[in-house]
Amino acid sequence: MLPEWVTSEGGSPRDIRINNSAPTSLFPTMQSTTIALSLGALSFILLRTIFRKAKGSLPPGPPGLPLIGNVLDMPSTMEWLKFADWGAKWGDICSVSLFGQPIVILNSATIIEDLNENTAAFSTRPRLPMAGELVGYDQTLVLIPSAAFFSPFYLFFDFNPSSFQATARDFELIGNILPTRSEVSAGAFLVDVFPAMLRIPEILAPFKQTARIWARETKHMVEAPYHFVRQQMTSGTAPISFVSSLLKEEEKLSEEDLRDIKFTAASFYGGGADTSAAAMQAFFLAMVLAPEVQREAQTEIDSVVGTTRLPLFSDREQLPYVSAVVTELLRWHSVAPLGVPHAAMEDTVINGHFIPEGSVIIANLWNILNDPETYPKPDKFDPTRYLRPFPQRDPRTVCFGFGRRVCPGKYLAEVSLFCTVASILATFDISRAPGPLPVHENTQGTISHPKPFDCVVKPRSDHAVTLI
Ligand code: HEM
Repeated sequence: MLPEWVTSEGGSPRDIRINNSAPTSLFPTMQSTTIALSLGALSFILLRTIFRKAKGSLPPGPPGLPLIGNVLDMPSTMEWLKFADWGAKWGDICSVSLFGQPIVILNSATIIEDLNENTAAFSTRPRLPMAGELVGYDQTLVLIPSAAFFSPFYLFFDFNPSSFQATARDFELIGNILPTRSEVSAGAFLVDVFPAMLRIPEILAPFKQTARIWARETKHMVEAPYHFVRQQMTSGTAPISFVSSLLKEEEKLSEEDLRDIKFTAASFYGGGADTSAAAMQAFFLAMVLAPEVQREAQTEIDSVVGTTRLPLFSDREQLPYVSAVVTELLRWHSVAPLGVPHAAMEDTVINGHFIPEGSVIIANLWNILNDPETYPKPDKFDPTRYLRPFPQRDPRTVCFGFGRRVCPGKYLAEVSLFCTVASILATFDISRAPGPLPVHENTQGTISHPKPFDCVVKPRSDHAVTLI
């Protein structure tokens, strides 16, 4: 069964504070609850810190203050830049503590490989009450704990794209009916650090009112595609899709199966829509900043595919330069600069450092993809990195995350990006708009887009218009 979704309207600032206009009769209850929670939390932090110190030392990191740890050191935006500085100073594996909660930060591909070897120990997600229990993402693939993610429908993600006959048109999205919420990022709310705050009555907890509104959007994201496909099936217009294929034998499906289908489809959408959109925006920016790359890619497409049809995914082998443009796109713009946090399921030792059970593990993917030792001049959009006799490291080993939680949509992303990029290059010229040259910068959020910029997009010829 779905959780009970609350329906009243609301909306409030994201900060946690006590509302002075609350009915006075609530105050005595609130004060005693706050004092009890604070004392409980303080004792918990103290005991946890003492107990952990006895077991081994965490990876090095900036020294924090007693009890609150590194709360005051934490950056409020572009965390990956600060985390990269910490990596340079404290090493590829470093750590901070927030009220006794260890956060381990990984800043190198080698450390990620080490973790890949010990993947089971890091295959769960931290408990994030705001995004999870309150907003409802805890039932989507991205936040479910590892033990639960052997849903049979998970397997649908994991297909191999070789011999795939896709064109760009196969990837039209129903984005206009579905919102995604990148503001619900991990740890953005105090309740993620102190889950006990879930007990605060809603009238005194603005975050709960915000969560109510976002939870309605999650419910819509889960229900709308399912009902859309059912409607299409009733009218006989449903194309083959994940949901329509599974609903063909609906009578054999249990309530639980239906719920799994809805949430898996929503995970496809939630995981795939914003990431793919961000990568495509970055592609337009890259073409503005590197016109010579665009010309080279178009020359390759014209000579291999010709100008009478759109490129197919099956042309990829014959289009190494265009293929390298997609590879470079995955490196140059970090769609998920810090990936999605993992959590340690048991006490583990990595590179001699003790990682206690429950530690939050954050991989600084942005930093690894911009490491000048691996990728000289990392700001430059340069597909030839992967074509030289000694190609640079394939960013796919990093940009899709690590271990058992590695992005299950990576093959789909690959097919859709290649088809879309190749078709746009075949039919359009992208150039800079009048005014200063745009700069490549990431927006804030779990899913990061390039900051807004203008560009000019024109069909390459009258004939190209007929292919679009
Ligand atoms: C440019 C495209 C994409 C990038 C860069 C990307 C990147 C990522 C990353 C970094 C993670 C976290 C992995 C980890 O925890 O270590 C992730 C998870 C996920 N991605 Fe993607 N992704 C992309 C496209 C897609 C697509 C197209 C889909 C679905 C159709 C998808 C579905 C998911 C799901 C469901 C998860 C959660 C997996 C889990 O928690 O077990 N992604 N992705």
